[in-house]
Amino acid sequence: MNFKGKIALITGGASGIGKETAIQFAKNGAMVAIFDINQKTLEATHAALKQITEDCIGVLGDVRQRENVEACVDQVVKRFGGVDILVNSAGILKDALIPKMTDADFDDVIATNLKGVFLFMQACTKVWTKAPLEKIKAAKSAGKPVPSPAEFPDKRIVNISSMAAEGNKGQIAYSASKAGVLGLTKTSAKELIEFNIKTHAVMPTLIDTPIIGDLLTKENGKWKSYYEGRIPLGIGKPKYVADAILWLCSDESYFVNGTVLQVNGGKVGEL
Ligand SMILES: NC(=O)c1ccc[n+]([C@@H]2O[C@H](COP(=O)([O-])OP(=O)(O)OC[C@H]3O[C@@H](n4cnc5c(N)ncnc54)[C@H](O)[C@@H]3O)[C@@H](O)[C@H]2O)c1
Repeated sequence: MNFKGKIALITGGASGIGKETAIQFAKNGAMVAIFDINQKTLEATHAALKQITEDCIGVLGDVRQRENVEACVDQVVKRFGGVDILVNSAGILKDALIPKMTDADFDDVIATNLKGVFLFMQACTKVWTKAPLEKIKAAKSAGKPVPSPAEFPDKRIVNISSMAAEGNKGQIAYSASKAGVLGLTKTSAKELIEFNIKTHAVMPTLIDTPIIGDLLTKENGKWKSYYEGRIPLGIGKPKYVADAILWLCSDESYFVNGTVLQVNGGKVGEL
């Protein structure tokens, strides 16, 4: 897949799936911006990206803060002249059984995993729809047919949901946020195709990244064995998810919109 000349913005790009996605985009020719709340990992990943391309920036910020999100999109547009691809990978996990879930944790998970995705989608959409809206308006006032979506620049959004969107014991807030991401994705796919903006979601199974903490080592590897027994191809690597994301942003998926792609290690349905 060739992303030469394309500009990719990846939230949560300092770590895990977002980091691997940023690296794969850079290796395949894209200009890359990563946005993350963690300064230390952001700097480290930015340095790693610089080994691949000079066309990369790291932007420190919080997906829960509208000003941070809008400032990031402005910065990317100023540096690279636009944005073509948005990957929403920033996310947090705060698990508890239903009676023990606190208001603060519930709200934080929704603000980060759901509202944060919306804020980035909205900020990019405002940039992407400006010129098409002017063209549509001009065509209407001239009594001409409105341009076809295919005449507008091809833009992509990929949101990271989770197999937990199907529901998972102990993950009331997380699974609600990830099911919400599917709603955002499907609505955006229907609403924005008018402007040639295609929106997709991926639903990864368990992937070995920092978000899962000590899950694979605690209790003498009990959970590691449990998940290895549940997922036919084993516990996932970030690259498996990055490969799916890149395809959904590539010329090879030009004719595809509104996909919800399970990156499931062979296990169909809930984890
Ligand atoms: N690892 C898994 O098993 C798994 C499975 C399904 C879905 N996911 C989803 O994949 C996405 C990436 O997670 P990961 O596994 O790479 O974990 P990760 O912890 O390695 O990466 C998440 C990144 O998001 C950043 N982040 C968190 N809150 C933020 C905020 N408010 N503003 C900006 N950045 C913020 C973190 O600093 C981190 O760099 C998440 O949305 C996660 O829910 C992960």
